[in-house]
Parts: sequence; C-alpha cells; structure tokens
Amino acid sequence: MAIPSTTRQWILNSKPTSTPILPENLPPPSASASASQPEPTFIPAINPLPPLTSTTALVQTLYISNDPAQRGQMSAIIDPARLYVPPMTLHAPVRTYTISRVLESGNLSLLAPGAIVRATTSWSEYAVVRISDVEVLDPEKTPGVRISHYMGSFGFPGITALYALKEIVKLKKGERIVVSGAAGAVGGMVVQIAKKVLGAAEVIGIAGTDDKCLWVEGLGADVCLNYKKEGFDQELWKATEGFVDVYFDNVGGHILDLMVLRVKWFGRIAACCHQSHFRTRVHLDYKDHFQEAREELIQAWKNGKIVVDDATETVIEATFEDIPKVWMKLFDGSNTGKLTTKLIG
Ligand SMILES: NC(=O)c1ccc[n+]([C@@H]2O[C@H](COP(=O)([O-])OP(=O)(O)OC[C@H]3O[C@@H](n4cnc5c(N)ncnc54)[C@H](OP(=O)(O)O)[C@@H]3O)[C@@H](O)[C@H]2O)c1
Repeated sequence: MAIPSTTRQWILNSKPTSTPILPENLPPPSASASASQPEPTFIPAINPLPPLTSTTALVQTLYISNDPAQRGQMSAIIDPARLYVPPMTLHAPVRTYTISRVLESGNLSLLAPGAIVRATTSWSEYAVVRISDVEVLDPEKTPGVRISHYMGSFGFPGITALYALKEIVKLKKGERIVVSGAAGAVGGMVVQIAKKVLGAAEVIGIAGTDDKCLWVEGLGADVCLNYKKEGFDQELWKATEGFVDVYFDNVGGHILDLMVLRVKWFGRIAACCHQSHFRTRVHLDYKDHFQEAREELIQAWKNGKIVVDDATETVIEATFEDIPKVWMKLFDGSNTGKLTTKLIG
C-alpha cells in the first residue's frame, strides 16, 4: 500500500462538562442570534503526518480501546490531580490506546514493518509513534485468541484486575468478594481470577441486566445481582450476610455507599472506578510488571482457569466517522467485557 502522508483524526474540540456532544447530536441552530450554541465535543480533521526519524515509526490503527477513564481525561471539570495520566489537550487528537500495524519504521533494527504493536496514539487512521513507546505484541503465544484481547483480558483491564486482587486487596483463598461492574472489561476478569485463580470461596457479581448477570455467573460468580432491579439493596444485603472480606469497586456511587457497610472489619476495598465520579488507584503502578502479569494471565488461560473468547469482549466494526459513536456506547451499558472498535475504513 502507498505510504500515507496525512491522516484523518478526531480532535477534542471542546472539553465537556457533562455528556459529550457528537456533531450529529447538536441541537438545531437557535432562532435567536444571541443564544449561545453548544460546541460538538469532537470534530474530524485531516492533518499531515510528521516525517520519520531514526526513533519513530508510522503505524496504521487496527483496533481502538474505549475506556471510561478517557471521559475524565477530556473533562472540563475534573481536577487533573485526580487523573492518572495528564488531561487531554484541547484542539489535539483524542488520545487512546490502539493495536496498530507498523507500516514504515525509521529504525529497522528496532522495529520491523508488519509488526503488530500496542501504542498510545489517538482517534486517527495513522500515527507516527516513538519506537521506544510501543509494545510489540506476540499473538503466536495465544493461538486461537483474537489479537484484540490484548486490549482487554490480556491488556490493561486484565492486568488491572490481577494487580488489584493480588497486590492491593491481597485476596486470599477462601475469602468472600463482591465485584461491581462485573460484566465489564475489568469486572469480568476480577470474577474469573478471584474464583478460579485465587480460590475465593464466594464471588458475588453486580451488573445492570439479567442477561449480563447470567453471563457473569457463567464466568464463575456464585451469584450476580442486577442493580437496576427493584429490591436490589435488600438482595445485596441478604447476599452479604455475615459480611464479605473484599469489595472490588468498578462503579462508585450508591453501590459503593452500600458496600462500605457490608465489608468486614479490616476487610479491603479496591477503588478502581470512576463511573459515578469517584476514583483512585491505577494499573500504572504496576507498569514494571506488565509482562509478568500478562504471562500469568496467559498461563491461567492455557490451564483453562480463565476464559478469553468472543463473549469476553464486544468488538464493534466501525468506519473512521463512527469512532466517537462507538466510544459513547461505554455509557449505555451495551458492552460485555472489553468494548473495542475495529477500524474498517
Ligand atoms: N485504575 C486503573 O488502573 C484502571 C484500569 C482500567 C479500568 N479502570 C476503571 O475501572 C472501571 C471499569 O472499567 P472497565 O474498562 O471495566 O469499564 P466497562 O467495560 O465499561 O465496564 C464498566 C461497567 O460498569 C457498569 N456501569 C457503568 N456505570 C455504572 C453506574 N453508574 N453504576 C453501576 N454500574 C455502572 C456498566 O455495565 P452495567 O450494564 O452493568 O451497568 C459498564 O459496562 C472504570 O471506572 C475504569 O476507569 C481503572
């Protein structure tokens, strides 16, 4: 293929104070000229790609990671001190993780064209990246597993789940744990690792539909409660009779308020979330152990302890135009497992 010199990109056009506004969702222009019109959060643009140097490579985006944390990173109202990476820059491309293919390398001894890498780039078709910043992926280690899982079960969500369970709350064999957001990318892995790798005696999942709850039970939860159903508070109270050792929080808000009262004295809470505007710890603390953590997850998969399959990710094929629309699906609960965009043109 011809090497591109420009790329289409989605630009952060205005920092949202609440729900991001897609260009197609703008209200019709007001009759009154003085009334202020909202700005779309994202706008498309075509920009030149910088020339390659001996430390950079040109990559083509294959898969785009959709992460709840991006919402905080682009927000106008979240204090940057509460973020684990710098806020996104206004009028710059929207930052994300991608799985990309190397098209051209400025240093063939460091990175070969054709390699598949995980990179921090943006909502762009192509990007020029620093070779030292990308991670070359080796999908041959996991035959039969789609490469996109290196953004979910074998990526940050899986590693976050493993790290938080082992190093933050130090879940022990025989303990009882509750996990919210249990049908999400992190939560689904927490359920599996807690029950089948670390030997929890009881795993109680919480998710937003009965179908998701069935799926979470299929992953290994002893029971999963639908928090949108009437009587949920009482159900949770009953399920946590005698109190639990660990609560793994992926959502904050009301569920966290309840669970604070249902954890044993000297029990532990992993605060992984910000879905309801609350957040703390970070997979980045563990960055020096990424490879080792991924190896551990791959080994657990090889041993049949964790399932990594089509149901543990929601991959949506999308054209460049639809990248923001797919990202917004994070907030309507439509995914089970990791929500990933497969860029198809
Ligand atoms: N600290 C770190 O290093 C790190 C790394 C990765 C992720 N995270 C955080 O972990 C959390 C989960 O991430 P993820 O990638 O697993 O997200 P995800 O795949 O989108 O899953 C989260 C799930 O939470 C549920 N949810 C959303 N809003 C909710 C609310 N207000 N109350 C209750 N449930 C709600 C949704 O499913 P339902 O249909 O069940 O509502 C959603 O699918 C996020 O807050 C993310 O920022 C942290």
